[in-house]
Amino acid sequence: MGFIYENIVRPALFRMEPEQAHDRGRNALMTLGSIPMLASLMRRFNQVKEDKPVKLFGLEFPNRVGLAAGMDKDGEFPKAIEALGFGHAEVGTVTPEGQPGNPRPRLFRLPENGALVNRMGFNNKGAESMLNSLSKSYPKGKRGMPVGVNIGKAKMTPLENAVDDYVASFRILADQADYFTINISSPNTQGLRDLQSETYLRELLKTIREENLSYAKKLGHEPHPLLLKIAPDLSYKEIDQIVGVLTELSYDGIIATNTTVARPAGYNTTETGGLSGGDYIRKRSNDVINYIYRSTEGKLPIIGVGGIDSVEAAGEKIDAGASMVQVYTGWVYRGPFFARELANALKSQGENWI
Ligand SMILES: Cc1cc2nc3c(=O)[nH]c(=O)nc-3n(C[C@H](O)[C@H](O)[C@H](O)COP(=O)(O)O)c2cc1C
Repeated sequence: MGFIYENIVRPALFRMEPEQAHDRGRNALMTLGSIPMLASLMRRFNQVKEDKPVKLFGLEFPNRVGLAAGMDKDGEFPKAIEALGFGHAEVGTVTPEGQPGNPRPRLFRLPENGALVNRMGFNNKGAESMLNSLSKSYPKGKRGMPVGVNIGKAKMTPLENAVDDYVASFRILADQADYFTINISSPNTQGLRDLQSETYLRELLKTIREENLSYAKKLGHEPHPLLLKIAPDLSYKEIDQIVGVLTELSYDGIIATNTTVARPAGYNTTETGGLSGGDYIRKRSNDVINYIYRSTEGKLPIIGVGGIDSVEAAGEKIDAGASMVQVYTGWVYRGPFFARELANALKSQGENWI
């Protein structure tokens, strides 16, 4: 199956302008999700279930492989994502109101590195639109896997009001999210990564946590798991500070990492934006994962993401200390059945875990 994708489908897609190919792929996934017979047939063929569901942050995941944020920005095709074997989908990044993102072209391939550069800039249809999509096409309570909602700041919102955006999206989407990811690490929204600094971060995360607790109290159920997604370009000192705030505020986990602004030797591009896929991000995110795992003595659950392009690369992230993984660029290069391959491999590795 992978052979057909890599030798027939991918060359055809890669002849197109990258975002046009992305749009084609998205349309195909929306079609798959909208034909119930086809989706359930595909699901039966592809779904990988660990012997026992993976329990993390109080949620149950069928397997350890998720689709990273940015592919399904509006929560339009999680059913197709499940049908292709993933164990969770992270949708978004979403902002309270829709916004167009940066002008095109804003997505670039580096095939010799198995990498991409993007400066999409949080193009999305807004939180209400995501709410509609999720509640119609993949409603909470009728899901075969959890859906995380990744929330961010709109381009026009000044940094000092950023918290309002996160709270607004939280409120709109709380009924349909299984967990929330606070995204402060994308390089394509000016100033966003400044929110990673300790003073901003504590205030932001504290307010979201309070919102979460009062939402749960009002409805009489458990609060949502809250995760933070970080950049790979932080120093270890900055990571220590962030982990300190997460621990202090009892956050449920961390996603490491987003794309990098680094331009390591051997990556032939002059485009600005976040670099994903390839060896540099794979190794850098492994280092960050392992650093967090060791410094927290394994107490803070980690979702590992960055540069997974093989079964071995997924295994490295688990070995470094991640409890689950996510993939984006590797899926673009390796094709729609790559998630199933990864989930199967991690499942059989798990049989040897103590
Ligand atoms: C085109 C594109 C768009 C992305 N958009 C988002 C986004 O909206 N929010 C986010 O948190 N991460 C976003 N990411 C980052 C991915 O979720 C992931 O963290 C990163 O690409 C590293 O994983 P990979 O090497 O498997 O791609 C995006 C990545 C790409 C390639």
